[in-house]
Amino acid sequence: MYHGSDHGTASPPQASPRHLFVRRMQGLAVVALVVAAPAPVLPAGPGKAAAAEPDAAFNLLSATEPISPIPLEIDVDRDKVALGEKLFRDPLLSHDGSLACLSCHQLDRGGDDGLRLSITNRGEPGVINSLTIFNSALNFRLTWRGRFRSLNEQMESVLHSPSEMNTSWAEILPKLQADPGYVAAFNELYADGITRNGVLDAMSSFQQSLVTPNAPFDRYLRGQQDALSAEEIQGYQLFKNYGCAACHQGMNVGGNLFQKLGIFKDYFATRGTITEADLGRFLDTGAERDRYVFRVPSLRNVAVTGPYFHDGSVDSLAEAVRKMGEAQLGETLLDAEIDLIVKFLRTLTGEYRGRPLGVD
Ligand code: HEC
Ligand code: HEC
Repeated sequence: MYHGSDHGTASPPQASPRHLFVRRMQGLAVVALVVAAPAPVLPAGPGKAAAAEPDAAFNLLSATEPISPIPLEIDVDRDKVALGEKLFRDPLLSHDGSLACLSCHQLDRGGDDGLRLSITNRGEPGVINSLTIFNSALNFRLTWRGRFRSLNEQMESVLHSPSEMNTSWAEILPKLQADPGYVAAFNELYADGITRNGVLDAMSSFQQSLVTPNAPFDRYLRGQQDALSAEEIQGYQLFKNYGCAACHQGMNVGGNLFQKLGIFKDYFATRGTITEADLGRFLDTGAERDRYVFRVPSLRNVAVTGPYFHDGSVDSLAEAVRKMGEAQLGETLLDAEIDLIVKFLRTLTGEYRGRPLGVD
């Protein structure tokens, strides 16, 4: 049922989530489960998250809770971030000028495109739901099926993908060199001027800056008692008691484990014909145990990143929670419980550049 030997720093559960939950409550599995922001895609140099001064209450809760807050301050090179942002917003990075990274990762929304399936450069629905770009540097692997270990690997793939940017370095670099603004900006920051490595470095610096701290739930973890209502706290208790936190935990409330979709109930039975994208990690390993296995997604900002699941098949967060209960835990959640869990999930919406996501 569970699988995987090369999971980076996170240990996969060896037992059912409910069993794990019990073990964690006994204090036995804390180290394995409470993994915050494992190393592979975290920046090693500029951009590495530097924890803000924790207060006493934060120390107390962080030791006992399965989720840890996103640091309030991160150490980034502002000039590289600014250059990376310009590239991120620029359709010049696509072959025909039809798409920018921003087209499918909208920063004034949830960092995704709000669509069931992303639209390709031919204007047709693609094969999979867009992931949010916010906090993606905190995930141990990237994409729904965890195909890439670094932002750079992921970027190379999307730049070359025929249905997305459909371009090459041989095409991108001369385009940038023809633009005096880019020439000046790259010369300022990189000894070699405009190069593949410089483009990747600036863009990954920008992506590392896309963290969303200061969610109400993080304020609560830091000791601000009134940051959550009584119902939101009840929702969090249910989230832990049912065992959601066995999979969705760590700093990103997910993003550090591989798990099968449909452990207790076949998710696809009622959804319809299996597509290639449904096969998940199986596409990368060919191992039978990886069929329908996905990286557990982050639930940070989940209230503003619908539609849900890799197939974008669910519009409402309540419905997504209900399906998770059945498919991942073998539990039929009551409507009142789902309502409380959704209230808790809404407290995971953080701030980008000082503004809560999804608020105009
Ligand atoms: C046509 C829409 C589209 C465009 C354009 C696009 N993306 Fe994406 N992006 C997606 C989709 C869809 C996924 C999920 C892919 C998957 O899981 O297989 C994704 C996933 C990602 C992820 C992984 C997030 C995570 O947490 O795993 C990153 C990082 C990312 N994109 C960065 C970029 C960058 C950088 C660019 C520009 C060079 C870009 N994207 C352009 C649609 C797009
Ligand atoms: C055994 C691991 C596991 C457990 C337990 C689990 N989940 Fe998930 N969750 C996943 C995986 C894997 C996915 C991604 C499925 C997909 O879309 O392919 C997911 C997806 C989600 C999503 C959709 C996220 C998005 O961006 O589309 C939500 C919401 C969610 N889970 C909430 C919960 C809640 C609430 C619980 C407890 C009732 C829970 N999960 C229990 C593994 C788990």
